[in-house]
Amino acid sequence: MKKLRVGIVGCGEATQILHLPSLYQLRDKFEAVALCDISRTVMNGVGNAWQIPAEKRFLDYQELIAQDDVDAVLIANPNAYHKEIILAAISAGKHVLVEKPMCITLEDADEIIAADAVSDCVVQVGTMRRYSPSFVSACQLVKEMEDINLCQVHDVIGRNSQFIEATSNVIHADDITSDQIEALRQRTNESITAAIGVVPDALRNTYNLLLGLSTHDISAMRELIGMPERVLYAAQKYNGGCITAAFDYGTFICHFETGTNAVAEFNAYLQVNSRERVVRVEYDTPYVRNLPIYLEVLDANGRHGVKRTRQHTWSDPFVEEWLAFYDNVMNKKTPKTSPQDFRHDLELFQMMIDQMER
Ligand SMILES: NC(=O)c1ccc[n+]([C@@H]2O[C@H](COP(=O)([O-])OP(=O)(O)OC[C@H]3O[C@@H](n4cnc5c(N)ncnc54)[C@H](O)[C@@H]3O)[C@@H](O)[C@H]2O)c1
Repeated sequence: MKKLRVGIVGCGEATQILHLPSLYQLRDKFEAVALCDISRTVMNGVGNAWQIPAEKRFLDYQELIAQDDVDAVLIANPNAYHKEIILAAISAGKHVLVEKPMCITLEDADEIIAADAVSDCVVQVGTMRRYSPSFVSACQLVKEMEDINLCQVHDVIGRNSQFIEATSNVIHADDITSDQIEALRQRTNESITAAIGVVPDALRNTYNLLLGLSTHDISAMRELIGMPERVLYAAQKYNGGCITAAFDYGTFICHFETGTNAVAEFNAYLQVNSRERVVRVEYDTPYVRNLPIYLEVLDANGRHGVKRTRQHTWSDPFVEEWLAFYDNVMNKKTPKTSPQDFRHDLELFQMMIDQMER
């Protein structure tokens, strides 16, 4: 079986806790062969832990992309840098798995879509929740529901650090210069301004939360029930830390709510209701690998009662995402989480922000 040789750009929490263990689990299909991080501490710490030779560790992503023995690039560095690395990787003929969000502005999305259209490379966006078998089964069940009357998308979670510090031992950078920090801050600010204009800080924070967490929920919602006709309302409170919205699907409404707080619980689900059936997918924190993702189905049993089935598989959504990536590369398929698909998240975020600005 052909192995895909992966070069990784950005070796922080997502790479250390989620991707490298997934690639190792799938070592018959993948081999991590090169690393890049702007922090020498992280690059060497992760390189030593995962036995990446010193000559395959880079501070500059261009050097990683130039390696002949890299077939695919995982992009897991800060969001504001994703676009330029995707474009560079595609033009070097490398396949790409880019962490969410793929990019920050619609213009950037269009540039990536255009480059993707004329290349032979696979570009897959890392909204891994959509690769969970429970979610895939839910989509199938929902397709068969004719009378959906109400949906809920809920994602209220504790701070990531509350899960990570208790369960992992991440190598953090201690050598990032103030110039590098400032460059990232500036680039992120410029991109957000390009996306939503000059707006109050609360709306910038809202957009950040949409890009960071809500792209999981909104993209899963789109796969489950399609694109809404319009945003009925959207609002934020707590300086952009909590968001609610209602999406109009013509015959039903989907209510969305999200936020982060200091209670170390992960309460995330999508629920589709109809007259005689309720389908629900429940997610837990991704930072503890292999936690069950539940698919629950409630059916009217016709005798004043309820038939309840609750199931899950033992597979991590990051592993499922990489398996899908392998299949897409080997069989030249377009990923369901393609650049074009991701663009719809940005379109909806834009519509939500527009409602909040009124
Ligand atoms: N799918 C998920 O559930 C999930 C979870 C966490 C993070 N993410 C995404 O993964 C990406 C990384 O997040 P994280 O939590 O690992 O962040 P992090 O800050 O822990 O790690 C980012 C790493 O990138 C490095 N870096 C910064 N600028 C760089 C550059 N220009 N070139 C190379 N390396 C650079 C940093 O030194 C750091 O080690 C983000 O896009 C985030 O949205 C996705």
